[in-house]
Amino acid sequence: MMVFIYGAPASGKSTLGEKLSKKLSVPFVDLDCEIEKSSDKTIAEIFSSCGEGAFRDMESKKLAEIVSSTEEKIVSLGGGTLLRESNRALCEEKGIVLCIDTPSEEEIARRIFQLPGSRPLGNKAIERAEHYASFKNRIASFFEAGSSLVVVGSEIAQGLICDKNIVCDENVSKLWGNKLGIAPFAEIPPGEVHKTPSTVASLWHAFAKKGLGRKDIVVALGGGVTGDLTGFAAATWMRGIRWINVPTTLLSMVDASTGGKTGCDLPEGKNLAGAFHFPELVVIDTAFLSTLPQKTLADGKAEMIKHALIGGKNLFSFADADVPSAQEIAENLMVKVDIVRKDPFETNSLRMKLNCGHTIGHAIEKLSSYDLSHGDAVAIGCCEEARMAERLSLASEGWAKEVEDAFSSVGLPVSIPSNICKSEIPETVKGDKKRAGDVVSFALPCGWGDVRIVPIDMAKEKIL
Ligand SMILES: NC(=O)c1ccc[n+]([C@@H]2O[C@H](COP(=O)([O-])OP(=O)(O)OC[C@H]3O[C@@H](n4cnc5c(N)ncnc54)[C@H](O)[C@@H]3O)[C@@H](O)[C@H]2O)c1
Ligand SMILES: [Zn+2]
Repeated sequence: MMVFIYGAPASGKSTLGEKLSKKLSVPFVDLDCEIEKSSDKTIAEIFSSCGEGAFRDMESKKLAEIVSSTEEKIVSLGGGTLLRESNRALCEEKGIVLCIDTPSEEEIARRIFQLPGSRPLGNKAIERAEHYASFKNRIASFFEAGSSLVVVGSEIAQGLICDKNIVCDENVSKLWGNKLGIAPFAEIPPGEVHKTPSTVASLWHAFAKKGLGRKDIVVALGGGVTGDLTGFAAATWMRGIRWINVPTTLLSMVDASTGGKTGCDLPEGKNLAGAFHFPELVVIDTAFLSTLPQKTLADGKAEMIKHALIGGKNLFSFADADVPSAQEIAENLMVKVDIVRKDPFETNSLRMKLNCGHTIGHAIEKLSSYDLSHGDAVAIGCCEEARMAERLSLASEGWAKEVEDAFSSVGLPVSIPSNICKSEIPETVKGDKKRAGDVVSFALPCGWGDVRIVPIDMAKEKIL
């Protein structure tokens, strides 16, 4: 499929087009560069010597030339190419147009300032706001995380993955297969119970049957289970092939999809076998959230509130909406991305902050024999750990209540269910892998944007 990257001047079309081309191993064409090459003038020179009308004619001619070959490619368009209806019809017939959301006025001014003389149209973004808003496939944000390129938007996945080798969660395949026009070559039965070595082996067999070699790319389309398993199978197939992660649950969008951790569970424990293997590309498409059950959506919101505890209350702006927007997801995810950038392979303690609410959360998840969902356990864990922070005078009075209100406002539980024996929690926490003797490191929420690593001597301190 041909993918056209469109958007206001200075929105990042060429930068994104070039990056996507490298990640997907698909040729890249920059329409403005092609016009400059064939006319031997810069776009600014064409504008000043021939006028906008003549430039638009040259642009339409060059576009028709570029799309005349059916070869798959990524084309970055000019900031006004699709103002001409005939150009728009041509691009929409030949492929898919992904429109980058218009950056803020200040951001555009900053980018134009950095590129003096290269933007003849200046700030057209505001004038053409309605035009850009008329495109339905939208990119809200793109950035690097470790060695992955992350693209966040709505209705963007189809254009980027439909021709690829796809491994898909069975439920997602039923719900989305026809809509996306995809034909997965392997399907993963849903649920954590299938996050096993035998499912990884079944993927290896499917890779062999498909004849995947060192140069091939495999796509994971599904929640965190599908991403972890497919990434692990890719990490170990022929000693590592490239992969693309397309998370379809909120939890996998804001957490599991970035950070490079892949793996499977063993009877002895969760995620015991695994490898760091960063996906080339992470495509976060909020369209998938429309079919997600409320409970699964709430599990993702638990991790988003955890990110707001680490990064600041502004990241909890999604509270009033049923489904967070692409922009809110991108900003929230940045909490994890910032940490992953500084510590991609978890070699120091930076990632520990991400463990906020998880020390107690994991213990109650385990004591419930995994009846409690991970999101519920994290919500309760964050509340208990906020209560601890208050008791230890690390947080002001009323803080724990504020944390409870945040989680309960999105339908998450805030206290330990009565069927879990509280007295077993300290021992279970001590079994945590981060333990050094009786001292356990907690990542305690002490205020919005204030998570502190606090070593607690479990022999002396009462944690509940
Ligand atoms: N790699 C990491 O850094 C990391 C981080 C956090 C969690 N994880 C892992 O992620 C897993 C949990 O991920 P999850 O919560 O996405 O679970 P999941 O992958 O099991 O998906 C949950 C359920 O939602 C269904 N589903 C997925 N997308 C859907 C959609 N768009 N519409 C309707 N149904 C859909 C699935 O079929 C499944 O039944 C755990 O195994 C956890 O260990 C990994
Ligand atoms: Zn978690």
